[in-house]
Amino acid sequence: MTARLLPGGPVADAVLADLAPRIEALVAAGHRPGLGTILVGDDSASAGYIRMKMEKATALGLTSPHVHLPQDATQADLLAVVREFNAAGDVDAVLIQHPTPPQIDFDAALLELDPDKDVDGLHPVNMGRLALGMPGPVPCTPAGIEALLAHHEIPVSGRHVVILGRGTTLGRPLALLLSQKRPSANAAVTVVHTGVPDWPEYTRRADVVIAAVGVPGILRPEHLTPGVTVVGGGVRYEGKRLLPDVDESCAEVAGAITPRVGGVGPTTIAMLFRNAVEAAERRAA
Ligand SMILES: NC(=O)c1ccc[n+]([C@@H]2O[C@H](COP(=O)([O-])OP(=O)(O)OC[C@H]3O[C@@H](n4cnc5c(N)ncnc54)[C@H](OP(=O)(O)O)[C@@H]3O)[C@@H](O)[C@H]2O)c1
Repeated sequence: MTARLLPGGPVADAVLADLAPRIEALVAAGHRPGLGTILVGDDSASAGYIRMKMEKATALGLTSPHVHLPQDATQADLLAVVREFNAAGDVDAVLIQHPTPPQIDFDAALLELDPDKDVDGLHPVNMGRLALGMPGPVPCTPAGIEALLAHHEIPVSGRHVVILGRGTTLGRPLALLLSQKRPSANAAVTVVHTGVPDWPEYTRRADVVIAAVGVPGILRPEHLTPGVTVVGGGVRYEGKRLLPDVDESCAEVAGAITPRVGGVGPTTIAMLFRNAVEAAERRAA
């Protein structure tokens, strides 16, 4: 069997197309959305991501004020920038690029951020809102995966979704999201991790398997039942080489699968802008 591909590009395009008139309406009302970005240090991959996000912000009609702190910046330097963005009237949403240099406590910086400006949806207040089903910014990769499955008409409601990984940016919030009582969620969600050594017993009984680990090639065909849907969220970079969790041979067993490149990534970026625009809409209201 060769799986149907589930590209993220068309999903991202649909999300961004929905945002365009909303951005226009905000601008017409005198509130151009602003996405502030903070980069600490010299990591070239991080600098590349920030540049790409700023260019996309400009293309969409958002302002993108940016602060680049040096590699030896202190925690106090970072907190000062976060507070500045919290207070800035023209900044609706803020991104603190991860990873940060070792002297920086990323979680402490996140805690300092105004939860309503937290574009990644990772502030404890927003994780709490997600757990309680309250409105607020939802972590971007989980939101992108839900949208990807809905866009490609992969049913989730009432079906068994197994998430491999319980990390804070992906597996854990995704489990909260897909178990919510909504038509595009409503799943029976199982989360497996290093504490479940026989996790293949679970993935083999799944309708949908989502890899959210960061261990290249961890998910293999023998862990799957024929026809299952496979979503690859976890990746590791070695230099510029992207190494996904999902071994390519899974496509021989799966019924549908995200492509090695251009799957979850584009949907994550689209959701970042959706969070930024929604933050602007809330502040403008
Ligand atoms: N595509 C995107 O845009 C995007 C965005 C965000 C994240 N990601 C990727 O998604 C992955 C997960 O991110 P995260 O921040 O949630 O990661 P994380 O916090 O590092 O969590 C990784 C999870 O994988 C589990 N795990 C590790 N090795 C395992 C093994 N051998 N068997 C079973 N489970 C194992 C860990 O289990 P324990 O809890 O037991 O340690 C943990 O729950 C990363 O690769 C990250 O790069 C991608």
